[in-house]
Amino acid sequence: MKAIDIINKKNNNEKLSYEEIEYMVNSYVKERISDDTMSDFVWSIYYKGLSLDETYYLTDVMIKSGETIDLSHINKPVVDKHSTGGVGDKITLIVAPIAASAGVCVPKMSGRGLGLTGGTADKLESIKGYKLKMSKQAFLKELDEVGCSVISQSEKIAVADKKIYALRNEIGAVDSIPLIASSIMSKKIASGSDVIIIDLKVGKGAFMKNIKDATHLAKTMVKIGAYYNKKVICTLSDMNAPLGRNIGNALEVKEAIDFFKGNYDKRLYDLSVYLSSLMISSAKKISFRSAKELVINLLESGHARNKFNAWIKYQGGNLSKIRDKAKKLNVVSQTSGYVNKIDSLKLSKLVFDLGAGRVKKKDNIDYAVGVVLNKTLGDKVNKGDVLATVYYNKKLPDMKEALTNCYLIEKKKAKIKKIIIKTIK
Ligand code: URA
Repeated sequence: MKAIDIINKKNNNEKLSYEEIEYMVNSYVKERISDDTMSDFVWSIYYKGLSLDETYYLTDVMIKSGETIDLSHINKPVVDKHSTGGVGDKITLIVAPIAASAGVCVPKMSGRGLGLTGGTADKLESIKGYKLKMSKQAFLKELDEVGCSVISQSEKIAVADKKIYALRNEIGAVDSIPLIASSIMSKKIASGSDVIIIDLKVGKGAFMKNIKDATHLAKTMVKIGAYYNKKVICTLSDMNAPLGRNIGNALEVKEAIDFFKGNYDKRLYDLSVYLSSLMISSAKKISFRSAKELVINLLESGHARNKFNAWIKYQGGNLSKIRDKAKKLNVVSQTSGYVNKIDSLKLSKLVFDLGAGRVKKKDNIDYAVGVVLNKTLGDKVNKGDVLATVYYNKKLPDMKEALTNCYLIEKKKAKIKKIIIKTIK
């Protein structure tokens, strides 16, 4: 086989066989073909697409390029939850302990963030003592004793995806539906859960900008799951505005702590209750309605909060020691009206510029910096009210202006969109 023939075949809109896709992926992992040749292959997929079968072949080859985790001996229902990444997305910190307190096992491997938003691993690292690295045995022991565990993404899982995803990031070929579907599903299938809940973000602050493309991606992932007999459920959620009030690694941990104390942001509460109910109902095979009643009960009784505390403590974290040392700047409104929009993309760029995100994998980040929204979607604002507080360690020249520009304040109150758009199973 020759790489050039396979690339030309795709460029001519012909279907590739399992062996041809396997040849390209494995040759790249073994460094038998160069970054340039692999880029040509990636671009041919980017422009010509892949059929469902081809997307499955790519997923399968990437799964086989690394280790897989066997969770079949766990005698509790097992469910994984994945988010495609959004601004202020601290959902994993909330739904993993809720589901675990309902007797569902939640094994999670989370990555560090690249680009504008921090990953769950970055958020957890802002808790002093929290250990993201664990042996496989310790991970399984925690799942047995606590019910949830969040560790760093193993380097040994879907090895080919890591290499190809890094290349795609470098050449700007991320937003391709078959490439995203195979990338996410290769990691999820290799991680061993039978039920996979995907929170697919749609809107300005997400890589899926519209509902049509997000629906196509969701359907593709559900179908790929079926090849492996895995139940995949995708919820499309709105990312035109940030999730919750705190954006920034340590600040998001603090919002999760507050959440379990009963101080909720409405949109964050709605999505957290919805996703945890979905996790519990599909894993325990009970109705969504009963699962939702259970979730509300677990939150109100404090069981979910106890589980959150137990999980963080088990992994060495001290919730009274958060890396949150930063200076504060209150930004006040220059006008009166209603908050009709908060631009999540602009906000994430500001938080990134403050130092909360990284360009390259090895870059250091500042856990403490970010923004806390005092006024959120739908709120009434009077001139002079504090809109938000910026937490910073290095002062940016235009911080106030950048923050003010994230807000659209108008005289007439606009209708606020629901956070949950639809669910595809
Ligand atoms: N997240 C992934 O894991 N892969 C992609 O391709 C895009 C988002």
